[in-house]
Amino acid sequence: MQSENNQLYIGGVSADELARRYQTPLYVYDVSRIRATISEMKAAFAAEKVHYEISYASKAFSVVAIYDLLKDEKIHCDAVSGGEIATIEKAGFPMKNVSFNGNNKSLDELKMAVDYGVGTIIIDNFHELDLLTGLLEKRQQTQNVLMRLSPGISAHTHEFISTGQQDSKFGFDLLSGQAKTAFDQIQASKYLNLRGLHAHIGSQIFETDGYSHLVDLLCKTAHDWHFQPEIIDVGGGFGIRYNEEDDPIPNATFIHLICQSARTASRQYGLSLPEIWIEPGRSIVGPAGYSLYTIGGRKDIPGIRSYLSVDGGMGDNIRPALYGAKYEAVLANQLNAAVKQVVRIAGKYCESGDVLVWQQELPKTKAGDLLAILATGAYGYSMASNYNRNPRPAVVFAENGHAQLVVKRESFADITRLDMDYEVEND
Ligand code: LLP
Repeated sequence: MQSENNQLYIGGVSADELARRYQTPLYVYDVSRIRATISEMKAAFAAEKVHYEISYASKAFSVVAIYDLLKDEKIHCDAVSGGEIATIEKAGFPMKNVSFNGNNKSLDELKMAVDYGVGTIIIDNFHELDLLTGLLEKRQQTQNVLMRLSPGISAHTHEFISTGQQDSKFGFDLLSGQAKTAFDQIQASKYLNLRGLHAHIGSQIFETDGYSHLVDLLCKTAHDWHFQPEIIDVGGGFGIRYNEEDDPIPNATFIHLICQSARTASRQYGLSLPEIWIEPGRSIVGPAGYSLYTIGGRKDIPGIRSYLSVDGGMGDNIRPALYGAKYEAVLANQLNAAVKQVVRIAGKYCESGDVLVWQQELPKTKAGDLLAILATGAYGYSMASNYNRNPRPAVVFAENGHAQLVVKRESFADITRLDMDYEVEND
């Protein structure tokens, strides 16, 4: 966290100035932090002397500007919907560097992906396999694909966001043999070019074992199927620090371990070392994002607690309400004042669960002060809603002392843009 004169700075711009220029609530990204994370990941792979791709998981934060940045950083990205693909396309991001994931891609979405020339489609299930094969046969076109496996590995994480265990809607089930049937079907199609195997074991992961098991399993599976994969894709999931309870493993440590496991497992199973792909979302954008709010009302309930209400809430960050996620906040215009209080930071939405920070020690505050919640760059804006018909905040990128608006604040006109009158019949 950058600071000067007791003020929070983001990307070299003071939070106070950002709030004055763009109003609150506001999402702000420290662009150099995103770049530093990507560099750290690239350096770890380079040190391992492996072929690799970093494919940013769009679901964490998908707007045109992030793809502009990723294009500049020369990494790939992963999409999970027509809407994300449309956003990527609008940014002029090279489609060959895009992969397409998801457990229920529609025929229209698959057509869109094939039309745009999406580099890799990650086949998730038999229905999609049939849709895609039919589509490609009709067009006499080939498509690079990976196959997503449901590996039966569960990483320690919040129950709602673990996707690697056997009881999962994602991927072909390995344990029951369905995956082998799908593999044979894929290999039998001359329109599908199977480049490798994919799996994702969960999100916000704080231990490395899941990844080494996964790499071993992918290599063993390839060996059992007499298949030399060009690529193994181990998904995303690297955990980040939201508050003092979180002790994340550095991205580089995860990557070293994945590469070393891949080397050991390929040797053990008689494979050449495949290219290693990862799909991190949260770890790339999460720590770089800040949410700025203006403090409004306050309620002190004697002997129970104090609530500070801000001008945003669950519409711009649903994670505390949805997952019980714990964030950390700072008083952006007075970072280190001595007098402290403990408060709960609530939003302005009509719901008791609309909490942003469950418990936070802060300097003394007054209405109009500026609050910053840290590490909100992932799954904040991307999961935002118009609940209570509140407009979604603007998004600003800040780098080297310059701030740039990259998503406009929604207006009330935007809120009602799609509404149509109901013509009441009067007779
Ligand atoms: N790849 C696949 C196939 C995924 O399903 C996911 C996340 C990722 C990559 C990226 O994972 P990350 O590196 O961001 O952990 N809304 C939840 C997170 C859901 C993640 C779902 N899949 C949250 O706010 O915590």
